[in-house]
Amino acid sequence: MPDVGRDYRIIGFLCNWCSYGGADAAGTARFSQPTDLRIIRVPCSGRVDPMFVAKALLSGADGVLVSGCHPRDCHYSEGNFYARRRLEMLRRFLPIIGVDEGRFEYIWVSASEGSRWRDMVTAFTDKIHKLGHMPRMTEPARTMCALEGMLGQSLAQPDMGHSPGGHSAGGHSADGHSPDGHSAGGHPAAGDHPAGGHSGAAVEPRLPDWSKPAEADATGKEDGNG
Ligand code: FES
Repeated sequence: MPDVGRDYRIIGFLCNWCSYGGADAAGTARFSQPTDLRIIRVPCSGRVDPMFVAKALLSGADGVLVSGCHPRDCHYSEGNFYARRRLEMLRRFLPIIGVDEGRFEYIWVSASEGSRWRDMVTAFTDKIHKLGHMPRMTEPARTMCALEGMLGQSLAQPDMGHSPGGHSAGGHSADGHSPDGHSAGGHPAAGDHPAGGHSGAAVEPRLPDWSKPAEADATGKEDGNG
């Protein structure tokens, strides 16, 4: 039964150094912003474990937004690269556990980008309103366990062990997936769905080639998802 009349609950994990400053700048500039976002300040986007996002969504949050410093601006050097790799993997697993991937987004906003923050948070909030409230999950704890296993396997793949700034020469582009890394083949087989019984087979990661400079990255994710 839909939660008619319930307020929307959107969780925002914001890095202390850039995005929190950006949100603050938007407030200082008195920009009009949605009021559905509950902000959790973290030291760096790299501190955001994908399971934080999953737990929020499976516990009833209608959407989760993670925002950090722009690539190569992280105050801890590589935190946002680690975040991007893990969060991109999470985003691809969300449909498998029955969560619309539109309910999760990660973006990059600097402390001086108050208007960018306002625009991105408004767009994300509008999207969540269109999706409606998050349906209640029947077995969130079991789903969390299954997701944690799938993420662990995927992130332990040999080519996921590179330094975040330096990709191996092999890259990811040779395996035939689309330039934006979102081909249907990028999702694990249906047999990995927790509801259908986890097969235990390793899940092949299909991620964009993040070794390219921002301006040459066809994914457009170097400067955010918007
Ligand atoms: Fe902002 Fe690392 S300090 S993303």
